[in-house]
Amino acid sequence: MLDAVNRRRSQPKVTEAAPSHDELLPLVAAAAGVADHGSLRPWRLIELRGDARERLGTAFVAATSVDGKEAAKLAGKPLRASLLIAVVVTHRPSFKVAEWEQDAVASGVAHTLSLLLDEAGWGVMWRTGHLTRTAPVRAMHQLDDNEELLGWLYIGGLHDDAKKGEKKTVNAREFVTQL
Ligand SMILES: Cc1cc2nc3c(=O)[nH]c(=O)nc-3n(C[C@H](O)[C@H](O)[C@H](O)COP(=O)(O)O)c2cc1C
Repeated sequence: MLDAVNRRRSQPKVTEAAPSHDELLPLVAAAAGVADHGSLRPWRLIELRGDARERLGTAFVAATSVDGKEAAKLAGKPLRASLLIAVVVTHRPSFKVAEWEQDAVASGVAHTLSLLLDEAGWGVMWRTGHLTRTAPVRAMHQLDDNEELLGWLYIGGLHDDAKKGEKKTVNAREFVTQL
């Protein structure tokens, strides 16, 4: 576990290979095991493959006022991997569990799934950006009123020169205080 966490790196460039729907399911089932206050399961994932990624690019452009080359570049952003998984927090009504706690659960699922995909040999990069919560992007994902996007996991195969280990280490002492 410690090794897997230390080894994981975001992979900005991936090949066109991607896990199938059936390959994803056991990893999603495992990621769903994160601590979940009230067991509300306040999340869902949406696979975007093929032309769904082009529709996301169109939604990005619709959310801005860019045109020409800039619009074409923006429209191509979701094509950087052949599988995108949209991470959605689905806020459940609860007196006990605040929305920010539900955000934490959905985020935990996405981080855990990233780690599991990385460990399984896939390249993963969680991407967001200022267009994530715009109306056209929201509509493209058919979100309900109680839902928000947390971004997308871009997933693909690893190139030979994929980023490996050796990330900047943090001095844990700077991040942990004691009362
Ligand atoms: C919620 C979230 C959103 C992110 N959004 C972006 C993004 O839009 N663009 C990007 O280049 N990286 C994004 N990242 C990836 C981080 O930049 C990356 O984790 C960081 O550079 C550290 O690299 P590492 O994951 O290899 O340690 C995001 C990560 C998280 C957790």
